[in-house]
Amino acid sequence: MEIKEIKIEELNPDEFIKQTIEEISSTVGSGLAINALSGGVDSSTVTMLGHRALGNRLKTYFIENGLMREKEGEKIVSLFENLGIHVEILDVKEQFFNALKDLTDPEEKREAITKTFYKDVFGKLVKESGAKYLMQGTNYTDVEETIAGIKRQHNILAQLGIDTEEQYGYIVIEPIVQLRKSGIRKVAKALGLPEEIYNRPPFPGPALSARIIGEVTQKRVETVRKATKIVEEELHNTNAFQYLAILHKDKVTGMREGKRDYGLQIEVRCWESLDAITGSPTRLSYDILEQLAKRITTEVPGVVSVTYNITKKPPSTIEAI
Ligand code: XMP
Repeated sequence: MEIKEIKIEELNPDEFIKQTIEEISSTVGSGLAINALSGGVDSSTVTMLGHRALGNRLKTYFIENGLMREKEGEKIVSLFENLGIHVEILDVKEQFFNALKDLTDPEEKREAITKTFYKDVFGKLVKESGAKYLMQGTNYTDVEETIAGIKRQHNILAQLGIDTEEQYGYIVIEPIVQLRKSGIRKVAKALGLPEEIYNRPPFPGPALSARIIGEVTQKRVETVRKATKIVEEELHNTNAFQYLAILHKDKVTGMREGKRDYGLQIEVRCWESLDAITGSPTRLSYDILEQLAKRITTEVPGVVSVTYNITKKPPSTIEAI
């Protein structure tokens, strides 16, 4: 791997910001760039760096792919509006659901997401806007895990030999690719992003589809979205690295009001980790676990079983897909 990691102990955030802004400016010159902001710490950091370097010559989009958490787009747009950065919401739900239709294999689902983002959505945006550059928040761990063959992170392109200029019509700029999550958080704080962003738990690019085993349909996303909201509300105070809900493919027999109810299974995961390379399940109290089970089975239609994953990464991974 040619990319040289900047370790947390070597990182001087202000120096990094100054240097990165200069690099972005000199790469883009007087041209235009676009970027997609999901509201996670990585894409938020890139958005700030890009706007400092390019001002209005960077156009930022929130891609509404139908796989995001509840009210995510509105929240992010208003948060960035307060920072003086305009973000446009692009509704491309249909395209994503069409691309995911009938797919159940994890890698096929990931590939469909990558293609829809990079070829269909960004490809069209660059063509329409005349931009030549796409800025994105790939980090060092994404590259490392993809190259090691663990998972194909949705945002890895050049490192897999994909020539984005030839295939999609734009050049990709990755300003934070030398950093891991802990370093990105430091840079985000130094850039003046609010704590809710620089301390935000990670959220994967393929969004809730990374948490659905089996086919990704609007209905199944709705189930995992509701469960996610409960898990986030209940586990927010744990300060864990990441916490999430996964929808299983198989149904199980349950009972409601004295009758058989063949229903859905939700798995909860809550991780202690520094950089997402390794992780351990948080030792949640039984009171918290019971509260999760109670809320998920009463508030999410169709769910009859809630489990808690007690496996470390490895052999587990953080997400399910
Ligand atoms: P895994 O599941 O591979 O996750 O143990 C490691 C970390 O990466 C996030 N993740 C992704 N982030 N694109 C991303 O931008 C992806 O395709 C992707 N898959 C997983 C995950 O949430 C965790 O923090």
